[in-house]
Amino acid sequence: MAQIYSRILATGSALPERVLTNADLEKFVDTSDEWIRERTGIRQRHVAAEGETTGDLSTLAAQRALDAAGVKASELDLIILGTTTPDIIFPSTACLVQHRLGANGCAAFDVNAACSGFVYALGVADKFIRSGQSKKVLVMGAETLTRMINWEERETAVLFGDGAGAVVLEASREPGIYATCLHADGGHKELLYNPVGVSVGFKDEPNHGVRIRMSGREVFKVAVKTLDSLVEETLAAAGMQASQLDWLIPHQANLRIIEATAKRLNMSMDQVIVTVDKHANTSAGSVPLALDYAVRSGKVKRGQNLLLEAFGGGFTWASALLRY
Ligand code: UT7
Repeated sequence: MAQIYSRILATGSALPERVLTNADLEKFVDTSDEWIRERTGIRQRHVAAEGETTGDLSTLAAQRALDAAGVKASELDLIILGTTTPDIIFPSTACLVQHRLGANGCAAFDVNAACSGFVYALGVADKFIRSGQSKKVLVMGAETLTRMINWEERETAVLFGDGAGAVVLEASREPGIYATCLHADGGHKELLYNPVGVSVGFKDEPNHGVRIRMSGREVFKVAVKTLDSLVEETLAAAGMQASQLDWLIPHQANLRIIEATAKRLNMSMDQVIVTVDKHANTSAGSVPLALDYAVRSGKVKRGQNLLLEAFGGGFTWASALLRY
């Protein structure tokens, strides 16, 4: 039987209206525009308004992707959302989005793989499509990470932003996703985590709120090394050479990490989609936001080979190599 591939029909994204620049941050955090730009590449981030949720942003991104694909929500047979900032504990935000889109009845669930959430969700969706189980799938990555920022902690306050991205996948005889690689190592939990949760009893240190904890320098080192081997593994899984890649669409945490991966692949920065300057680190939202920007700006064209990759809390790391 001929191989079935998952093909991206269209993309969509959504960002909160409010923009917080580095200069804005300087007013209430002990930091500087220069430090943030030089160490991370970030110039600004979008921040969700009060009451604006991950589900709101996901719904908007999804509707834009469905419209661009010319697909009705009722045609979807699976919805997966990568997020670590769900609207409520349950039902899953994927279920909330499903109802708002009018796709009631199809399978819907969230994937929590921190910054790798979207690429994980894409990998899972690809397996559903390849197995013949699903024909049209909505995959999203979305976060409202600023909800767990302590704005007085400069180590993390300057790094994160809010946003959502989505793709509509379709079962196709044409490629499509060639390979996905998903990994995790829970042994590194202490380097990047949020300790607040249900089963531990919502405990946190007093006066700090629900906040992200990150040992930035250590995470940076592991991320660069891990992404190096991940891209090699992905190329091998797809049976391709780095020279066949048209675009690298990386997780947007730090421009220096992105440059290191591009260098490893011998790709010029002209072949790399960079949105970290405008969006900062939107965790699971980052790769689909960058992908949608790349498609809608006309940079990425049909038939081109894209390498998507992400690294984040868990640690988790994941990639997808596909023909757009
Ligand atoms: O998305 C999930 C994965 N996450 C990542 O991939 C993030 C990985 N890590 C990073 O991107 C970088 O490590 C950071 C951007 C978080 C930090 O950059 P760095 O070059 O590793 O800086 P550092 O943590 O080593 O700090 C250098 C200095 C310190 O001061 P001293 O000890 O040298 O005097 C910090 O206190 O910079 C200071 N610093 C700041 N200064 C101004 C830390 N944060 C700030 C700040 N503004 N916001």
